[in-house]
Amino acid sequence: MSSQAELKQYLEFAISLAKDAGQMIRDATQKRLSSTSSQFVVKYDNPTDLVTETDQAVEKFIKERLSSTFPEHKFIGEETMAEGVQSEFTDAPTWIVDPIDGTTNFVHSHPYVAVSIGLTIGKEPVVGVVYCPLMDELYSAAKGLGAYLNETISLPMVRSPLEDLSQCLVATEAGSDRTPEVFDKKIDFIRTLLGQKQCHGKQAHSIRCTGSAAINMCTIAKGVVDVYWEVGCWEWDVAAAVVIVREAGGIVVSGDNKRDLSPVNIFGRKYLAIRAAQDQQSQIKIAEQMWEIIPEINAPRKPVPGGFEP
Ligand code: IPD
Repeated sequence: MSSQAELKQYLEFAISLAKDAGQMIRDATQKRLSSTSSQFVVKYDNPTDLVTETDQAVEKFIKERLSSTFPEHKFIGEETMAEGVQSEFTDAPTWIVDPIDGTTNFVHSHPYVAVSIGLTIGKEPVVGVVYCPLMDELYSAAKGLGAYLNETISLPMVRSPLEDLSQCLVATEAGSDRTPEVFDKKIDFIRTLLGQKQCHGKQAHSIRCTGSAAINMCTIAKGVVDVYWEVGCWEWDVAAAVVIVREAGGIVVSGDNKRDLSPVNIFGRKYLAIRAAQDQQSQIKIAEQMWEIIPEINAPRKPVPGGFEP
């Protein structure tokens, strides 16, 4: 296992890398704002799952910097996987990267975009950096070293008690799978989550969708959102943020509709995160209330050797 000094070294490197990648995203946004073209969207396999030239350029930059600095480390990235490159998930240090989480926001010049850089060692997420360059917010954490906003503000910022799902603000997303068998279940879930108690709803305060799984999870780390649930995103969307949420006192478990309090499988495509609370029982109570209403949704994937047990 790595020492805290090693983790700190990886964390500092990831922070500096995220800042440089963030500058690329800022430059591309400036270019985008002064252009009337939308041709920088490069792939429309699924019209609700966008990829841009900037996603590809930022991932290439991050991958090259990582492999020249840590040649023995492994790499899993959204765009590399999209090109059909299969990486085996092993105990070796593995960087898991989303160059732009919130690509749909990026395409619309909406500021909720983030570069997400996570590191696993022994298959456990241990370092995470999520940088939102258009808002200049940098979330970072390493196992045992705490979670921070902009490197100085300790997370969570909000520490009020967590009482009941009816008092919660819940982050979730439409996601890119709009097939009726998936989408209808998500809409039904939202109806039950927000609906009045006399209509068998949980009457939660409201929902929020930032358009970025990583940013949603950082709002959990901050404490300004109470619960995040999503089915259908990927390990690169959450690998970094899992560390940030945990170091900020939150929990991240499976977002499947079965009660399971074991640490989340980041390759599982189903995520439930609860913010820091007065005690773990209060977090478990909210998770139980969510499991009562979370639908069974299939989120298949091509297996990653060593990374996903069906
Ligand atoms: C997407 C975002 C979005 C989530 C999707 C992800 P991308 O990542 O995290 O919030 O709903 O499932 O794929 O495509 O912008 O990297």
